[in-house]
Amino acid sequence: MGTHSSASVAAAAALFTGLLAFATLVSSNTEGDILYAQRQAWKDPNNVLQSWDPTLANPCTWFHVTCNNNNSVVRLDLGLAGLSGPLIPQLGELSYLEYFELFGNELNGSIPASLGNLSSLVSLDLQGNLLTGAIPDSLGAISTLRNLRLYGNNLTGSIPQSLGDLTNLVKLELQKNSLSGTIPASLGNIKTLEFLRLNENSLTGTVPVEVLNLVLVSNLTELNVARNNLDGTVGSTELRVTAIIQDKLKTSG
Ligand SMILES: *[C@@H]1O[C@H](CO)[C@@H](O)[C@H](O)[C@H]1NC(C)=O
Ligand SMILES: *[C@@H]1O[C@H](CO)[C@@H](O)[C@H](O)[C@H]1NC(C)=O
Ligand SMILES: *[C@@H]1O[C@H](CO)[C@@H](O)[C@H](O)[C@H]1NC(C)=O
Ligand SMILES: *[C@@H]1O[C@H](CO)[C@@H](O)[C@H](O)[C@H]1NC(C)=O
Ligand SMILES: *[C@@H]1O[C@H](CO)[C@@H](O)[C@H](O)[C@H]1NC(C)=O
Repeated sequence: MGTHSSASVAAAAALFTGLLAFATLVSSNTEGDILYAQRQAWKDPNNVLQSWDPTLANPCTWFHVTCNNNNSVVRLDLGLAGLSGPLIPQLGELSYLEYFELFGNELNGSIPASLGNLSSLVSLDLQGNLLTGAIPDSLGAISTLRNLRLYGNNLTGSIPQSLGDLTNLVKLELQKNSLSGTIPASLGNIKTLEFLRLNENSLTGTVPVEVLNLVLVSNLTELNVARNNLDGTVGSTELRVTAIIQDKLKTSG
């Protein structure tokens, strides 16, 4: 009798502790909890996330995670890691994240709009996954961004005009998706651009003069718009970098 009741008290206590732990996990949103929730949402056949132990005070000792001096996560380095599954929206709460490197996995689903909240982000590299859906307009809010690499997925919809607000961007690589619509003239605002790769999509219209101007007045060294449905072009099987042929520029004075 006594044994039975103390056993049930222990069981009830264990259940209560379990519920409390669960409640803590779902209600709090510390960076470790967010990353652990992301771990749970992924398939990880190579066990690269084995060190992601939610009982540690913070995720700063976990492999593939880097923190700053304040124990805030600044890098996630999980390129070519064999991961599959979605990106969870809570990732947008990693406010200090600078490098988000998840290229070459099998991530599917869409890019969460909440990633636009990553206001310290310098590099977003999701190339070579199985992502679908549209490029969120919200990414245009990440004014610190220098590299935006989304190529080699199956993204659809048009290129958001808001990307023209990314005035520190050096590399914009959206090639090899299923993007449609016209090339936004707003991309001509990005005077810092060195590489603009939009090839192998279903873009229509013409290349806006504002974008062509970047070749003349700024540092754009590669503008690749081949293999789209642009006016006046035929889809050539040979991949080609667009060249701009013009007379020699007059020197001022
Ligand atoms: C660390 O936190 C302090 C206080 O919140 C802040 O002033 C400082 O800028 C932070 N440092 C880094 C590297 O984020
Ligand atoms: C992502 O892939 C998994 C496993 O193949 C599948 O179960 C899931 O439905 C996919 N999700 C989306 C949004 O395509
Ligand atoms: C983050 O982004 C989403 C979608 O863009 C937005 O609805 C939400 O309010 C943002 N959250 C914070 C904390 O800024
Ligand atoms: C990409 O998505 C489009 C539209 O959903 C679909 O028709 C097409 O088959 C997909 N392509 C690949 C390579 O998955
Ligand atoms: C072009 O590149 C040079 C050399 O890297 C740099 O000093 C300059 O600021 C760049 N111009 C723009 C508009 O980013």
